[in-house]
Amino acid sequence: MKKRVLTGVQASGTLHIGNYFGAIRQMVDHQEKSDLFLFIANLHSLTTVSDPKLLKSLTLQAATDLLALGINPDHCHFWVQSDVPEVAELSWILSSLTPMGLLERAHAYKDKVAKGIHPSVGLFTYPVLMAADILINQIQLVPVGKDQKQHVEIARDIAIKFNNLYGETFTIPEPEIPEDVAVIPGTDGQKMSKSYGNTIPIFAEDNAIKKAVMGIVTDSKGVEESKDPETNNIFNICKLFLTKSEQAAFADRFRKGGMGYGDAKKYLLEKVLEYFRPFKEKRKYLENNSDEVEKILEDGAMKVRRTTLKTLEAVRKATGLRY
Ligand code: ADP
Ligand code: TRP
Repeated sequence: MKKRVLTGVQASGTLHIGNYFGAIRQMVDHQEKSDLFLFIANLHSLTTVSDPKLLKSLTLQAATDLLALGINPDHCHFWVQSDVPEVAELSWILSSLTPMGLLERAHAYKDKVAKGIHPSVGLFTYPVLMAADILINQIQLVPVGKDQKQHVEIARDIAIKFNNLYGETFTIPEPEIPEDVAVIPGTDGQKMSKSYGNTIPIFAEDNAIKKAVMGIVTDSKGVEESKDPETNNIFNICKLFLTKSEQAAFADRFRKGGMGYGDAKKYLLEKVLEYFRPFKEKRKYLENNSDEVEKILEDGAMKVRRTTLKTLEAVRKATGLRY
C-alpha cells in the first residue's frame, strides 16, 4: 500500500528555483511513489493577507504554478483548502480538546508576532487548523521544512489525545524532514530566498532571468586563471541542471582556466532557460485557460471530500455531535 502523504502550500507569489528544487520537485516525485494530498492553504493565508483581490489571485497563481511544474490531478488529490468546509468544522472540534499550553509553546506564532503580524485568534490557533488538514485525511507522512516540524508534532499530540478520549479515530501522522534536500544557494551565495532578493525566478520573462543570472556574485579572477568550482556560485547553481558527467566536465573548465565568468554565466543561463521552457509553455497555456484550472480545483475538492466526509462522520459519531 502506498503511504498517504500530505502537504499544504501557502501561496506567496513568484516562485524561484530554490522553491522548485527544494520543495516542488519532491511533491512531483511523491505523486508516483505515494498517495499524495496537496492543497493550497488559503485559510491559513487569511491570517496574514487581508486584501481579497490579492488572496484570490495568489491562490489561483499558486495552483497554476504547481500544475505547470508537474502536479497532475489524475495522480494526486489537489484542491484549495477553503473548498472543503469539513476542515473548519473539525478544527473547531479539535480546538475544544487542545490545551492552551500546547499552542503557547509554538515558535511560529511568537516569531510571526515578533515580525509585526497582527496577533489574531486565528494566528494563535493556526496549528489546530493544520492538525485538521492532516487528521481529516488520515495522513501517515507530512513532508515539511524544519520550521513546520513543531506543527506536525502538535497534530500528533492532538490526534493521540482525541483517540484516548473518544476511541481510535485518527491515524497518527509523522513529519518527514527531507535532510538530503540541499539548500539551494542564491545569486549571492546565501540561501536563495525571496526575502534576500537573491533569487532566480522560474516564470519571469527571459530577460529578467538573464539579469538574475548575470548578477551572480563571483570573485574577480581573470579569464585565464584557474578557478575553484566548489566555492563558486555559478557552478553550485549550475550543478542542479547537469548530469554527473556534465558536472565533471564543467568543473574541469573552471580548474583549467580559459573560461571567464561571463561565459560560465551564459552557459548556466542556457541551462536554466532550457530546463524551464516546457513548464513556462504549460504555464502560459493554463494562464490563458484559467477556467480549466478552476475546473481542476473544483473536481479536486469533490474528490478529496469523499475522504474528509468519511472522517468527519466518524468524528461526529465519536464525540456525540451526531444525535
Ligand atoms: P522563500 O525563502 O523564498 O520565502 P518559502 O519560505 O516560500 O521561500 O519556501 C517555500 C518552499 O520552498 C519551502 O518548502 C522551502 O523549504 C523551499 N525553499 C525555499 N528556498 C529554498 C532554498 N534556497 N533551498 C531549498 N529549498 C528552499
Ligand atoms: N503552515 C504550512 C506553511 O506555512 C502550510 C500548511 C497548512 C501545511 N496546512 C498544512 C503544511 C498541513 C503541511 C500540512 O508552509
